[in-house]
Amino acid sequence: MRLIFLGPPGAGKGTQAQRLAAERGICQVSTGDILRQAVKAGTAMGQRAKACMDAGQLVPDDVVIGIVRDKLAAPECAKGFILDGFPRTTGQAEALDGILLDFSAPIDRVVAFTVDDEPLVARLCGRRTCPACGAMFHVDFAPPKQDGTCDRCGGALVQRDDDREAVIRDRLAVYARSTRPLLDYYRGKGVLTALSAAAPVDSVYAALKAAVDA
Ligand code: AP5
Repeated sequence: MRLIFLGPPGAGKGTQAQRLAAERGICQVSTGDILRQAVKAGTAMGQRAKACMDAGQLVPDDVVIGIVRDKLAAPECAKGFILDGFPRTTGQAEALDGILLDFSAPIDRVVAFTVDDEPLVARLCGRRTCPACGAMFHVDFAPPKQDGTCDRCGGALVQRDDDREAVIRDRLAVYARSTRPLLDYYRGKGVLTALSAAAPVDSVYAALKAAVDA
């Protein structure tokens, strides 16, 4: 199964991708997670990406296309993958077409998560993540059992640097300008399914499974 999850920041792409990838034994490829790891490790790529990420802007296409090309060539992606947060520009989508052609691995479905802007701001302001194991929480909608502590591994939860309201609004504007046009791109290829992601996580997950298994 080869999937792309498209949608604005906070739509739940990461939450749902983590769950579906674990259930189906396929690989979640989150360009955001890979970039954050590179920033933390202080690599040249991380240094190049950091300023863009902190400002809520997109990292240059050549950087993320290189990441995805390497990741999709890895054995862990051979059984299938979910691209979570990639592509985000027409240039990235066209480059992905070329990569998948090289691998003879066409996309089965592109799922477009839709949620209005104001609930997205609330979701992102309350998000807390575990840097140690990647688990995700929300202070109101999915709180950890113990405040500030990861249920899964006991690590200290953190708030992402770009989850401040001003940056969130910039990210939403970038999505509208650069990424939303991809809905037409994939609709034209006949692989797009729109998914309302405003409901609670379990309901969205049930609808997602119905969409990808259809
Ligand atoms: P990235 O990490 O990809 O961030 P994003 O796309 O902005 O998406 P988010 O991770 O914020 O949201 P999500 O949809 O995954 O929602 P989540 O499941 O976490 O990218 C960060 C930055 O990296 C970019 O700004 C850019 O600089 C750079 N970058 C990354 N990819 C790039 C690319 N391809 N090109 C160029 N630059 C790139 O959920 C959010 C919160 O809501 C959580 O707290 C969760 O618990 C909660 N929640 C989830 N679902 C529900 C629900 N149904 N109901 C209530 N709460 C929910």
